[in-house]
Amino acid sequence: MRIVCIGGGPAGLYFALLMKKFHPEHSIAVVERNRPYDTFGWGVVFSDATMVSMHAWDPQSAVEIEDAFNHWDDIELLFKGTRQRTSGHGFVGIGRKKLLNILQRRCEALGVELVFETDSDGDTDYPDADLIIASDGFNSRIRNRYPEVFEPDLAVRPNRYIWLGTNKLFDAFTFDFRKTDHGWFQAHIYKFDENTSTFIVETTEEAYEKHDLGQMDQQGSIDFCQGLFSEVLEGAELMTNARHLRGSAWLNFNRLICGKWSHFNGNSHVVLMGDAAHTAHFAIGSGTKLAIDDAIELTNQFNRLGHTKEAIPQVLKTYEDIRRIDVARIQNAARNAMEWFEVVGERYADTLEPPQFMYSMLTRSQRISHENLRLRDPVWLEGYERWFAEKNGIEVQGNGRTLPPMFTPYSLRGTHLPNRIVMSPMAMYSAKDGLLDDFHLVHLGSRALGGAGLVFAEMTCVSPDARITPGCLGLWNDEQAMSWKRFVDFVHANSEAKVGIQLGHAGRKGATKLAWEGIDQPLETGAWPLISASALPYLKNSQVPKAMDRADMDRVKADHVRAAKYATEAGADWLELHCAHGYLLSSFLSPLTNVRTDDYGGSHENRARYPLEVFTAIREVWPGDKPISVRLSCHDWADGGNTPEDAAIFAKMFKHAGADLIDCSSGQVSKEEKPVYGRLFQTPFSDKIRNEIGIPTIAVGAISEADQANSIIAAGRADLCAVARPHLADPAWVLHEAAKIGLTSIAWPKQYLSGKTQYETGLARAAAAPPPVGPTIDAR
Ligand SMILES: Cc1cc2nc3c(=O)[nH]c(=O)nc-3n(C[C@H](O)[C@H](O)[C@H](O)COP(=O)(O)OP(=O)(O)OC[C@H]3O[C@@H](n4cnc5c(N)ncnc54)[C@H](O)[C@@H]3O)c2cc1C
Ligand SMILES: Cc1cc2nc3c(=O)[nH]c(=O)nc-3n(C[C@H](O)[C@H](O)[C@H](O)COP(=O)(O)O)c2cc1C
Repeated sequence: MRIVCIGGGPAGLYFALLMKKFHPEHSIAVVERNRPYDTFGWGVVFSDATMVSMHAWDPQSAVEIEDAFNHWDDIELLFKGTRQRTSGHGFVGIGRKKLLNILQRRCEALGVELVFETDSDGDTDYPDADLIIASDGFNSRIRNRYPEVFEPDLAVRPNRYIWLGTNKLFDAFTFDFRKTDHGWFQAHIYKFDENTSTFIVETTEEAYEKHDLGQMDQQGSIDFCQGLFSEVLEGAELMTNARHLRGSAWLNFNRLICGKWSHFNGNSHVVLMGDAAHTAHFAIGSGTKLAIDDAIELTNQFNRLGHTKEAIPQVLKTYEDIRRIDVARIQNAARNAMEWFEVVGERYADTLEPPQFMYSMLTRSQRISHENLRLRDPVWLEGYERWFAEKNGIEVQGNGRTLPPMFTPYSLRGTHLPNRIVMSPMAMYSAKDGLLDDFHLVHLGSRALGGAGLVFAEMTCVSPDARITPGCLGLWNDEQAMSWKRFVDFVHANSEAKVGIQLGHAGRKGATKLAWEGIDQPLETGAWPLISASALPYLKNSQVPKAMDRADMDRVKADHVRAAKYATEAGADWLELHCAHGYLLSSFLSPLTNVRTDDYGGSHENRARYPLEVFTAIREVWPGDKPISVRLSCHDWADGGNTPEDAAIFAKMFKHAGADLIDCSSGQVSKEEKPVYGRLFQTPFSDKIRNEIGIPTIAVGAISEADQANSIIAAGRADLCAVARPHLADPAWVLHEAAKIGLTSIAWPKQYLSGKTQYETGLARAAAAPPPVGPTIDAR
């Protein structure tokens, strides 16, 4: 085969090297426009894990690269006059020139043809090649020639950055945050050889413009950065090696995803690799790793499927299928980290105290969790847990284990929760005439015994026609209030848990079948008339609701007030107003379900007017020493619907109306929704609302382990975590999660104590057992 790699960056060189090493019979060339020792940029960082796989694939180059590495374990943060440091993070830095030179030499030794100072026009320059590797970087000419094939999706990110260097040497990966009159600037600094450190400065477009950085030449920008970061530079100078760039040299990061990675151009197969195929923001330093991993995987597929011309299409397909998954995972983490830096100024730097800011920064990609930080640097993590516990009123004594964040108590108004885990409201469709009966007592009671700090019953409907299904709970008569009281008394007598009631009205999603008989499907018999913000049915076959008039609004408001009074009589500890998931109050908030032209439709103020009216009315009758939270759909996940920005506007309005907390859910407003599910997928909404609006929040959605809840609460992304489905699988989810992280100080119900010891011993024994012996895995 004849293989030509166009572009001699890490991707092209490493693939050529590996392919020639394993299959020397093929002719392999790398064509590069620069000279061998020319390159722009400074150092790049790898994680230790990347080195492990490079060792497995080509020990010769790995040893040389490792010798040239600057290895460091520490991350240091300079912030608001404090200097904080943590260890165990395992990075290596290497000069880009050095890396490329090692790869170039290894290519030459193996017999790869290196062609420098040749600016290729692209794939058509080499019609005799069987395979062309488009390793020509982010601006790939080859990819741009076939946009309809590769379907590049480019997003220009809002922040500006400038890539500089300095001769001051730093012994930790250092972040320095500085506030100016026009906003925050951050420097990402790491040493990559014995003389030089990379020094990337980043800021928002707004700060960039207000400081006139766009009008300055490179020297002007360097002088500005040198002045701003003079303390950390201690007299050292900043330098550029991008004099070839015209203008100011402040760039925007471009995020690239491609729909397809390979193509047959009539003569040769063409495949994208490295930055030509995808980019990952420097906030997690993974661009070079991705390029190297691409090269490894393509070689791996040739080794597996055959290194013949005939095998090429299958090899390219499998390469793309496999790499796509890993690339998406890294791009996802890089996006989280990048977005953290994009909003860091007002959202975190202005609001969080230095220790929590440090924690938030370390977990910015959401790939590093609480327990992962404990593995990296137990001393630092334990110090942070102590700080968090003390901030939350816990006296930390001696050397005993500090309570992890999710187990710290939480107080709002006069209500005191023993921990930060909420059993999220979940409809059970098992009530008769809205009555809370023995099923609910056992179901909810066992979750209270199981350790949740706050137990929500399902959406509790404020009138018979407010129900979703005939099986929904209600609170509109004395008998129901009495049954609630029995349950509340049980929980108070037998656990430390508190009881929450979520008041709601189904609106246009009412009068439907029980979930297991056809979720959202209209009742065939016994349906009641529906009301909503506008006369729009939920499904095509749903009943068309009546658009509420003022009399309807007054009646439904009075129903909420009556239910809140009953909740008071029942002795419940917490109320939640359900303004999410497309039910009645949510139907006012979303432009997809509210097309009114009166005072209750149109602007945010108008759409929120009726939900706020209901909120204010229940706040007046609900005891002043008990909290009310509001559940919002923070994203409609549909064109034209509410976004997290809209949710933040509504959260601010509820805050001003006296809401104590926003419960940040999403979706279920429109059947057109396209939610993006994943681990902790709604936590970013909670993070945004808590830290931008300054109101406590509940995070919910795909939180399934203590480690995740601890990370969310410790980082200040939420005050409480609501856990729904895991509580269906395990009523004692909280007690079990405590045991799984080795926390034995959490009290179990006294009746269950002998089960506690046995459970904990079983876990300890399983953890101590040697791992099962499996087949050895050959890295190649
Ligand atoms: C500010 C910043 C910081 C970064 N920090 C890190 C980091 O810490 N860690 C990390 O892993 N990554 C980092 N990266 C990303 C990293 O530099 C890239 O992801 C990586 O270099 C991609 O390798 P590549 O081989 O795909 O492309 P490139 O390295 O861009 O190589 C492409 C090569 O193709 C050549 N070329 C292009 N067109 C032609 C043509 N028509 N003819 C001939 N030759 C051509 C170019 O000259 C270039 O040498 C950073 C990037 C930026 C912008
Ligand atoms: C069976 C079931 C019933 C639910 N009923 C309600 C409800 O009555 N009110 C509500 O606000 N959310 C309801 N939800 C949503 C949950 O409260 C929670 O937001 C969602 O399940 C995501 O959390 P999880 O990933 O921990 O399950 C329900 C979820 C399930 C699984």
